[in-house]
Amino acid sequence: MTRDQRPLGSGFTAASTSTDVIDGLDLTGRNVIVTGGHGRLGREITRTLAAAGASVTVASRDPHRARSALTGIEHVQVEQLDLTDPASIDAFTRGWIRTGRPLHALVNNAAVMFSPELRHDARGNEISFSTSHLGHFQLTRSLVPALIQASGSRVLTVTSGAARFGGIRWDELAFRTGYDGGTAYAQSKRANVLFTVELDRRHADDGIRAFAAHPGVVIGPGPHHPDALASYRAQGLVDENGATVIDPGAGKKTVAQGAATPVFGAVSPVLDGFGGLYLKDSDVAVLDDTVRPLTAGSIPSDANSAMLDPADAERLWAVSEQLLA
Ligand SMILES: NC(=O)c1ccc[n+]([C@@H]2O[C@H](COP(=O)([O-])OP(=O)(O)OC[C@H]3O[C@@H](n4cnc5c(N)ncnc54)[C@H](OP(=O)(O)O)[C@@H]3O)[C@@H](O)[C@H]2O)c1
Repeated sequence: MTRDQRPLGSGFTAASTSTDVIDGLDLTGRNVIVTGGHGRLGREITRTLAAAGASVTVASRDPHRARSALTGIEHVQVEQLDLTDPASIDAFTRGWIRTGRPLHALVNNAAVMFSPELRHDARGNEISFSTSHLGHFQLTRSLVPALIQASGSRVLTVTSGAARFGGIRWDELAFRTGYDGGTAYAQSKRANVLFTVELDRRHADDGIRAFAAHPGVVIGPGPHHPDALASYRAQGLVDENGATVIDPGAGKKTVAQGAATPVFGAVSPVLDGFGGLYLKDSDVAVLDDTVRPLTAGSIPSDANSAMLDPADAERLWAVSEQLLA
């Protein structure tokens, strides 16, 4: 599955924006769902796809807040979806299927990031795994009929370079012991890539191709919360004055640059004929199995073999089915 994990020469760079990668594409008549499509990156993904003519449905646990964040963007509908609640996902997907609309792209973007305290959903699943992986697993599988109906569709799951560092705690997925927000986030983002690999293996022949995209590190323009500044400084994400550092080549991006790779993965014809791959900087990422530490000057985010392991991907699929049974 990793044999295609090498850059295609898309012509885009780390500095490309979501508008750059969609230049010249007319998405009129295409239906897209973006989970959390009103958040920091989600809103820009939504705005870009809608500006190219797509009909975008933003799935949000708080539609009122989402509508207000999306004011001024046309071709957008907002519907209720809480990814930690199987009944909510069921209601959303039944509503979509009932309309008979094909689904051309599903952008699994929503996530819980670095929750400082250990939280579980009503079924006892750790909250970042529940939101980022299990919720999107149920959502995607229930929308397969609409994705097939599109006769050529994409499932783009927004992962993170953290997938490089994250393992799956097969015997302790729920972190009843040893919880750490960063480790739990990394597990959920590793799960996003493994899910992509197995989804593509199962459904490529149905015309559904799957990609996972690392957006880069995007903290937004600020001003930043005082509590976040020490950590941002340690990671080289803000300068001595607290201003955001933008250095796309080093992975530190604006919101528009961060939205580029997810948009590229969701709709770019450059990726036609491919699938099951991890994307970065609006291209297929390099495969690099060298052990590289995370430092203020370097945020390793290339693909590695572990995140794309087909046996782990199949195992996670089976475990996820059991957790949702
Ligand atoms: N920003 C970065 O540096 C960075 C780096 C690597 C990867 N990523 C990935 O990029 C994606 C977007 O991140 P972001 O920076 O835009 O963060 P964000 O602004 O916090 O967006 C996350 C979105 O997820 C939604 N969400 C959380 N729990 C949910 C639930 N139970 N049901 C439905 N929606 C839920 C949030 O909705 P509410 O508004 O209701 O909270 C929010 O819209 C995530 O997958 C993240 O892991 C981000």
